Amino acid sequence: MHSIEPTSWSPDSWKRLLAAQQTVYPDRDVVASAVAKLSSLPPLVTSWEIERLKSLVADAQRGERFVLQGGDCAEAIADCTPDAITSRLKILLQMSMVLVHASKKPVVRVGRFAGQYAKPRSSSTETRTVNGQSVTLPSYYGDLVNRAEFTEESRRPDPYRMVEGYQHAAMTLNFIRSLLEGGFADLHHPEYWDLGFMRHAALPEDLRAEYQRMTDRLADGLRFMEAIGERRVDELSRMEFFTSHEGLNLLYESAQTRRVPRRAGHYNLTTHLPWIGERTRAADGAHIEYFRGIRNPVGIKVGAGIAPEELLRLLDTLNPSNEAGKIILIARMGAKKISGALPGLVEVVQRAGKIVLWMCDPMHGNGVTTAGGIKTRLFEDVLREIETSWDIHHALGSRLGGVHIELTGDDVTECLGGASGVTEQDLTRNYSSACDPRLNYDQSMELAFSIARRMAKGSAAPAE
Ligand code: PEP
Ligand code: CO
Repeated sequence: MHSIEPTSWSPDSWKRLLAAQQTVYPDRDVVASAVAKLSSLPPLVTSWEIERLKSLVADAQRGERFVLQGGDCAEAIADCTPDAITSRLKILLQMSMVLVHASKKPVVRVGRFAGQYAKPRSSSTETRTVNGQSVTLPSYYGDLVNRAEFTEESRRPDPYRMVEGYQHAAMTLNFIRSLLEGGFADLHHPEYWDLGFMRHAALPEDLRAEYQRMTDRLADGLRFMEAIGERRVDELSRMEFFTSHEGLNLLYESAQTRRVPRRAGHYNLTTHLPWIGERTRAADGAHIEYFRGIRNPVGIKVGAGIAPEELLRLLDTLNPSNEAGKIILIARMGAKKISGALPGLVEVVQRAGKIVLWMCDPMHGNGVTTAGGIKTRLFEDVLREIETSWDIHHALGSRLGGVHIELTGDDVTECLGGASGVTEQDLTRNYSSACDPRLNYDQSMELAFSIARRMAKGSAAPAE
């Protein structure tokens, strides 16, 4: 049992330390009342779901599962609609099916949703030219803090947006739970979650045919197992979904951090898997203080600049008992830097005997800005970072256990390239992300097929 509460920790002990990326609200009383409201609401997830995910992550750490984590960069409250929610579920389901088929391993599906409303920013202000005048306003920090629209009114932080965000996360999750309960993700009926795109997408014909074959084979396999009376078929065909978001806004996270009956320790009950961002993982900062006390599995974004000893210190603080299933390291180094940065980190973790799951976020180290000032990413770089990560782990006898992707099931034009050939001219056509550029439906499926091919080659499970 890991029942020991860390010394001198409480859900609010982070307040003694410097917290990066936190909002300065003008009125403390309003903040206190919003936080009190937030704390009084029922939780979004339960401790047994969180422990279940931890056990699945532990399986993945042993190479028995693969983790697919994906969704918007910045989830928008306005996107809490049936269409947007089903479209996100569908793309993750379809990608996971491609991966399951190739790897013959179960895939753990984790959405960047139902609370991915807080964004770290590199600059606290943003300057734009409005009616020929240069205007500077506070940056957009996600719907949990302010609004994306470029007006003074919208950019003013409002503590009650935390309550509003929480309520929308609850509605999102409620709808997801009902869909799953109602058989939306039942593999016997892949037609429920087939996207219209499949028929007219620019996805190359061979990929589309391969995908169709997989879908058919899976459904056939399940029907056959049922016919011969396999009892576990229900468990096999019902899919589980977990939620995740960056645990950035510590007021929001700590307001729903509690003890639960019959279990030791505190749980963050806003999400199954909170992660620590690249900009807020200072070893002596408030975020690490908060995260060291919760029982949830925890993701840590790891950029190319982290020193090996810094990483070890984080692991010692966040997982002193080296509990399996607890730590996911999400490397986000960039296709150019990964070869220089990742091997040393993998080795140091191996030498220290730390149990972690290595995932690859091929998005956040690959940002580029076009001559016209649009933030984008090259699909080619995304693929290359995953490939390189795969090679590095394989060469070191380690394992790439999952991917973390910013994506959408919609036909957006935010990242360049891929089989459907999004060009720089296309970027303005349907660029709807309020923050970082996401892969669109075609690019996401193409990515899944590319990972699947690599898995099928068998290098997913190097010698132990
Ligand atoms: C993100 O995941 O949207 C993000 C901001 O990532 P990172 O902390 O890795 O920059
Ligand atoms: Co992002």
